[in-house]
Amino acid sequence: MPLAPSSDPLSASPPARPVAASGEVQALRQRLAAACQIAVLTGAGMSAESGVPTFRDDSSGYWSQFNPQEMASEAGFRAHPQRVWNWYAHRRAVIARVEPNAGHLALARWSRTHEGRMSVITQNVDGLHQRAGSAGVLALHGELMRNRWLDRPRSCCDLQRVAPGEPPSCPVCGNLLRPAVVWFGEALPASVWQAAEQAAQGAEVLLVVGTSGAVYPAAGLAQIARRSGAHVVVINTQATELDAVASQCLTGSAARLLPALFD
Ligand code: OAD
Repeated sequence: MPLAPSSDPLSASPPARPVAASGEVQALRQRLAAACQIAVLTGAGMSAESGVPTFRDDSSGYWSQFNPQEMASEAGFRAHPQRVWNWYAHRRAVIARVEPNAGHLALARWSRTHEGRMSVITQNVDGLHQRAGSAGVLALHGELMRNRWLDRPRSCCDLQRVAPGEPPSCPVCGNLLRPAVVWFGEALPASVWQAAEQAAQGAEVLLVVGTSGAVYPAAGLAQIARRSGAHVVVINTQATELDAVASQCLTGSAARLLPALFD
């Protein structure tokens, strides 16, 4: 299934909701402690408190400044390779200078002390869950810090020997390097998607953290989990497109609520 927004990718975020009450947090904390399998689906809001911009937040989101079809599609890259490469270079510089936040760290600590009970599935390409110490992270949209070839690599294409440029290229055939992220219209890595579907189907609780739920197939994991009987919890600072699917919505930031639920 190709990566696609559910509606207008530029649509503004919905309004803020009242903050989660401590009783609600305590009850969910107990449910999580008792669950054999927990899945966590994260989006850009997970890394917002680390200093990484989101995509659809009103004035600070990337898509309020850039056109996703130009910056996150193969056609956009082929049309303006230098411009798109440099935008990803800028995003790489942003994530190189930030650190995992208290939310990433709480998930990583809990998964280490409760081995085999938590699957972390992320739409984020920033690697912050992995840097926090979560193992086996399912990175649905790829990894920003890695590159791959734009066209099918030939025998001359060697990632260790590239001609410098914006973007770098194969010195023999001119094949261009591109970031190893999933762009709109492209398929998610099949094995990662299958593992994510399985984790959603097998979860007793699915936490949907810091995502607008505007991009499929990732957002569909909430429906998959709910149909399989999971308690689906949306954790976000604002209303999302997945609130209607959720068993429960907790309003608050990822870096505040995840430590309260797991530490
Ligand atoms: P969005 O920018 O669409 O949504 C970010 C969500 O995080 C919003 O619902 C915010 O309300 C919420 N949020 C912001 N700060 C938060 C915080 N501190 N704690 C909790 N929630 C917070 O980002 P995604 O849903 O991740 O794909 O977007 C999905 C995909 O669309 C991305 O992977 C990207 C984008 O286009 C590609 O570029 C291919």
